[in-house]
Amino acid sequence: MGLKGRHIVEIGDLTRAEMELVFRCAERLAAQPRGHLHLARGFQLATLFFEPSTRTRLSFESAMQRLGGAVLTVADAAQSSAAKGETLADTARIVGGYADIIVLRHPAEGAARLAADVAGVPVINAGDGAHEHPTQTLCDLYTLGRERGPIASLTVILYGDLKYGRTVHSLACGLAEFGARVVFAPADPALAPPPALVERLRERWGCMPEWWDPRGGTPFPDADALYLTRVQRERFAGADDTGILRALAPIDAATLAGWGVGPDTLLLHPLPRAGDLDPALDGDPRSAYFRQAGNGVPVRMALLALLLGVAEEEWANGWGAPRRHTAPLPTDAAPGAAVSLAHNGFRAAGIVCPNAACIANRERATVEQRFVLPTAGAAREPAGAGRHLGLCCRYCAQPVSVPGALDRAANVYRHAGDPRLLALLSEAGPDAVLLSAPPADQEEALLAAPLGATA
Ligand code: NCD
Repeated sequence: MGLKGRHIVEIGDLTRAEMELVFRCAERLAAQPRGHLHLARGFQLATLFFEPSTRTRLSFESAMQRLGGAVLTVADAAQSSAAKGETLADTARIVGGYADIIVLRHPAEGAARLAADVAGVPVINAGDGAHEHPTQTLCDLYTLGRERGPIASLTVILYGDLKYGRTVHSLACGLAEFGARVVFAPADPALAPPPALVERLRERWGCMPEWWDPRGGTPFPDADALYLTRVQRERFAGADDTGILRALAPIDAATLAGWGVGPDTLLLHPLPRAGDLDPALDGDPRSAYFRQAGNGVPVRMALLALLLGVAEEEWANGWGAPRRHTAPLPTDAAPGAAVSLAHNGFRAAGIVCPNAACIANRERATVEQRFVLPTAGAAREPAGAGRHLGLCCRYCAQPVSVPGALDRAANVYRHAGDPRLLALLSEAGPDAVLLSAPPADQEEALLAAPLGATA
């Protein structure tokens, strides 16, 4: 299966082979950025930005225009009907009727997954709260690959706000998919990555990240790249009680020298910087962050062309020379391997996502709570004294403990330790079970919940 028609909600939606395909296309497009105006002629991209953006929105719009397509944009959600109380689902449904592909940035985690459910056209996540930013990762990995060789052999240190930084959440998973070495270096203990991310890296990719404490005086790991990030002030919700926002010193040449960062360690930063990176480093030969930002255009051109299904044809005919027939697009992507969810998730009675920033809680009146297995198709054995199953929110991937579920065919409640329940979750469709607390307190809810039409 190619990438045509797919959603890109998290970086885990793409296999390594599919990312490499994006990079090969991007190389071709970068070589001749003005030579592809025929590719997406007649197609329209909608950019829906509910949070500020410079690089992501403009590079997507530049990319679409360089492919010959048109752009509809909502750069400021205050200008859209969201200001009148329209739900994200309604907005996505409407815009999906106007455009062929949607790029969405939203403060709620899981917003892009919700939009993808209803839009009817491919949805690309341009950042959903503190959750993920997969296309930034494509730019990061493309830059790493170009400047430091095979990604699989690299060691990358992720520094800064690893708690709320969505770019590092996606990048850690992207590096893990390539088998690269990941080193977490939170700028402050309070900015450590979410435990669920560390767990996911281990479970899905067998990746065991290493740790380096920038304040601990331990030697700087031998690294190919140091990925710097700013503190995500907007996600602290005004609570500066830990003093982190004041305490962090900007990274400058003296900091790097003090850490022992070598001459060959590439400096990356998704930008914007907000006083966290000294502009005097811009001329340093290690600094690659402006090239990293520039790569956003060819990478996003490649992604748009592949999702719109116009790139394969172009490749087959020879790039920039549509009449010459050459070999078909070389892709070793395993069919369907990147589809992380077999369905839209299990329904639940009385179980809610514990993440207050999740779209399922922000728009609770209209978004149905849904839960999925942490790794598609594999239910984890229940653990701990309470014997709860570990599932994840279908939208924001936050872990949730589930005591059991109603087996709808047998009409019996199965506790987390029941092997039949594990089998049902792994193999059956979303309507086979209704996740819930045991029936003593939930009986009415279980019986009242109708069998809904689910995808
Ligand atoms: C990042 C983001 O929005 O998450 N910016 C970007 O897209 N390059 C990083 C940030 O805002 O810190």
